[in-house]
Amino acid sequence: MKSLQDLPGVGPATAEKLVASGYKSLESIAVATPGELSAATGLSERAAQKIIIAARKALDIGFKTADIIYEQRLKVSRITTGSRNLDKLLGGGVETQTITEVFGEFGSGKTQLAHQLAVNVQLPVEAGGLNGKALYIDCEGTFRPERIVAMANAVGLDTKETLKNIIFARAYNSDHQMLIAEQAKEIIEEEGIKLVIVDSVTGHFRAEYPGRENLAERQQKLNRHLHTLARLADVFNIAVFITNQVMARPDTFFGDPTTAVGGHVLFHVPGARIYLRKSKGNRRIARLVDSPYLPEAEAMFIITEEGIRDPEES
Ligand code: GTP
Ligand code: MG
Repeated sequence: MKSLQDLPGVGPATAEKLVASGYKSLESIAVATPGELSAATGLSERAAQKIIIAARKALDIGFKTADIIYEQRLKVSRITTGSRNLDKLLGGGVETQTITEVFGEFGSGKTQLAHQLAVNVQLPVEAGGLNGKALYIDCEGTFRPERIVAMANAVGLDTKETLKNIIFARAYNSDHQMLIAEQAKEIIEEEGIKLVIVDSVTGHFRAEYPGRENLAERQQKLNRHLHTLARLADVFNIAVFITNQVMARPDTFFGDPTTAVGGHVLFHVPGARIYLRKSKGNRRIARLVDSPYLPEAEAMFIITEEGIRDPEES
C-alpha cells in the first residue's frame, strides 16, 4: 500500500482534502500531529489521529524488530564538515536520521559550520556530500550568501547553482519557526532536501519566554519543535543541524563549562551534541558530548576564508 486512498478511513473526498492541504504522501501524514492535520484539513482531531496512525502503520513506523532497525541504520549517510578532524569526531560527518546540535558561545563557529554544511551537502557522495539541497531556517538574520559563494568556490561547486540549492526561510519568532518546520515536509520531498539547518534553534524561545517562571512553557514548546525536526530526520532520512548559543561561565564555580548557561536542548531527543569553544586565533575546539555510540573526544578545526578546515592544512 503506497497511496493515500488505500488508507482505512480515507475516501476520495478526504484524500482530496489532504492533497489540497499539502499532505500528498504517506510520509507527510505520518510525521504530522493530529492538531496540525485537523487544522489544515478541517477533519476532526479524532479522524486526523486515525489517519496518522494508519499512515504510520502503512509505512511500518511502530514496533520493529532489531534487524529492521539495523537495516535502517545502514541507510544513515554523512555530510563532511570540511575538517577531517571534526568528521572523525563525528564518526564520518554529520549524520542523517538524527539531529546534530552544536552549542557554544558567540563567535565559536556555529553559523560558519551551518554555512559550510549547506554547501557540502550538495557535493557528490564521493566528495563527502549527499548530492542534495539544504533548507536553511535563519532565526537570527546571520545568513550570508557571500560566505556560501566563497565556500562553494573553494570546493569547486558552481556558485550560482549552490545558492539556488539552498532554500532559505527567515523565522521571525518562535511560532513562525515552528510553523516553518511543520510545513517543511512538503518542500523536503519536492526539492530533494537532505539537510535542514536551524540557526539558532533556541534564540526566539529564550527571548520570548524569559526567566524561571516561563521555563516550563518554553521547554515544552521547544521540545515540540525538536520532535518535529527529529521526525523529519527519521522519516526522510535527512540530516538536521541545529545551533544553540550558550554563554561560557566566566567563573569555574559551576565546574564543567559544557553545563553552560542555557543548557542543552537535546535532553529529550536523541542526537549528537557538539560543544564548541574558541582557541587561539581562528582555531576552534569541538568536543563530542553524550553521543549514543561514539566516545567522548575532542577535535581541532579552523575557520578560514574558504570555510571550515583542519589546522594542518594551513
Ligand atoms: P553567535 O551566532 O554569535 O553565537 O556566534 P557563532 O558561533 O555563530 O559564530 P560564527 O559562526 O558567526 O563564527 C564567527 C567567527 O567565524 C568569527 O569570529 C570569525 O573568526 C570567523 N569568520 C566569520 N566570517 C568569516 C569570513 O568571512 N572569513 C573568515 N576567515 N573567518 C570568518
Ligand atoms: Mg551564529
